[in-house]
Amino acid sequence: MSINALIDLLPKTELHLHIEGTLEPELLLVLAKRNNVTLPYGSVEEVRAAYEFENLQDFLDIYYQGMSVLIEERDFYDLTMAYLEKVHGDGVRHAEIFFDPQAHMERGVSFDTVVAGIASALEEAGRQMDMTSKLIMCFLRHLTQDAAFEALDCACKHKDTIYAVGLDSSEAGRPPELFSDVFAKARAEGFVAVAHAGEEGPAAYVETALDNLKVSRVDHGNRAFDDPLLIARMVRDKVPLTMCPLSNLRLKGIPDLSAHPVKRALDAGLVATVNSDDPSYFGGYINDNYKQVAAAVGLDETDVIKLAKNSVTASFLADTNKQSLLEKIESQVASWRKDI
Ligand code: HPA
Ligand code: ZN
Repeated sequence: MSINALIDLLPKTELHLHIEGTLEPELLLVLAKRNNVTLPYGSVEEVRAAYEFENLQDFLDIYYQGMSVLIEERDFYDLTMAYLEKVHGDGVRHAEIFFDPQAHMERGVSFDTVVAGIASALEEAGRQMDMTSKLIMCFLRHLTQDAAFEALDCACKHKDTIYAVGLDSSEAGRPPELFSDVFAKARAEGFVAVAHAGEEGPAAYVETALDNLKVSRVDHGNRAFDDPLLIARMVRDKVPLTMCPLSNLRLKGIPDLSAHPVKRALDAGLVATVNSDDPSYFGGYINDNYKQVAAAVGLDETDVIKLAKNSVTASFLADTNKQSLLEKIESQVASWRKDI
């Protein structure tokens, strides 16, 4: 059996996934009709044709436009359930999912509506598919820290549902330290912290995400490779990176997939993971990311198994749950070896 068959079989977690970025063109058009939202597209083909991006901002403009069809609780439920059903077939057994409440609140959709829709799908998936999950609320870094404090106030009423806070949206010129105070308050309230850093911004942003925001994981982190001392620090401190190869390719952070740093990250001893970011927009879900980057940079079976194991160790699961998922990986690997 091929390495692709191994990728399909491996139990894994997904740790870098924006739920609004899973909105497939088909569902986008269904929800636009259901909610009487006018979009500049008449067909699925027209929507897909618009998904050509020069950089992160180009993508974000389309991403925020797309989410304008999400209005009712059931829209968020349908969106989340569609993603969970899809990746259950990819071997995803645990997902840590980002959402962007500020982008919905500024359109008049309440925080509670968003959380209720997403959380009920997560609960349903727990019951029906034995999938576990955690929810990560992102602050939009193109907005002010005051706006982030308002989102945090809302999150504090949902501590049973929201596990961590993150930082996403436009990175250039918006360093993590602009959000030091709101992250300090979030951590004091008991939320774990993560942040997008080094996607388009410099290695220094990865450093301040660690120093000022005290993040437990770095989302993307590609530009950290410009600073060998920073990489050495992240290896020493076992700071996981949630990497997203197809996203980096489609947003032109790398000229082609063979330039992706995931192999470098593994070889350096980093806790690197592979994830999908916004799969509907970037042309592939988690297994597509594993397979395409494996072919492009030459990952072997040891690398792929390591990535799946890293996805478990880098997760926010309790140690006993990590242990049982790691054992499931071992037993799948053993049966894959028997078949080759
Ligand atoms: N980067 C930053 N912000 C985002 C992304 C991303 O890839 N996707 C959704 N929000
Ligand atoms: Zn992201």
